[in-house]
Amino acid sequence: MSLSGHEHPAEESAEGRTHALRERLLGAPPGRPRHPWWWIGGGTALLLALAGVMGAHELSQRRSERMHDARELTGGEPSEGPALMRAYGCGGCHTIPGVPGADGTVGPPLTGFARRQYIGGVALNEPNTLVEWILNPKQFDPKTAMPVTGVTREQARHIAAFLYTLR
Ligand code: HEC
Repeated sequence: MSLSGHEHPAEESAEGRTHALRERLLGAPPGRPRHPWWWIGGGTALLLALAGVMGAHELSQRRSERMHDARELTGGEPSEGPALMRAYGCGGCHTIPGVPGADGTVGPPLTGFARRQYIGGVALNEPNTLVEWILNPKQFDPKTAMPVTGVTREQARHIAAFLYTLR
């Protein structure tokens, strides 16, 4: 197997291959021009493309890790959350990233909710507590402006799962 065609049979050896690689990376030694700029330009484009692909891969991996963690925490399905929150009007009072039209300002924005320490400022932010809050916030704070919206326990679990993907 030859890296560069048949013009350098000596490159079959490991030393030869290293030499060929160095020529590609650093350009040809004087007297034997091998279009170094073409190599550098092409190499840079290739590296950038590779970095782009790796970046996209990393992002989608982090996203699927977040989804996985949210399922483990709540037993709910995070991808069900946005449609449910739309259906139950959560977005009329809350700004919620990833939920189209959810730009309410009555309640706090749910941005970065997974990092919030307390729910409604009164209960520790834990999965079961969050499900209970979504079902009936008045049991934690009778004076809260957040109403009982009528979601089922299972729906509350899906919504909670989704909220824990918001970091
Ligand atoms: C009528 C307005 C209103 C609606 C509708 C509403 N909320 Fe709220 N929500 C609030 C208010 C106000 C608070 C702040 C509660 C407090 O501090 O007492 C709140 C607090 C919360 C919190 C705690 C946020 C934090 O950072 O402490 C969560 C989570 C939440 N709401 C989820 C939901 C979900 C899910 C829905 C839909 C099922 C929903 N809310 C519907 C008004 C609303």
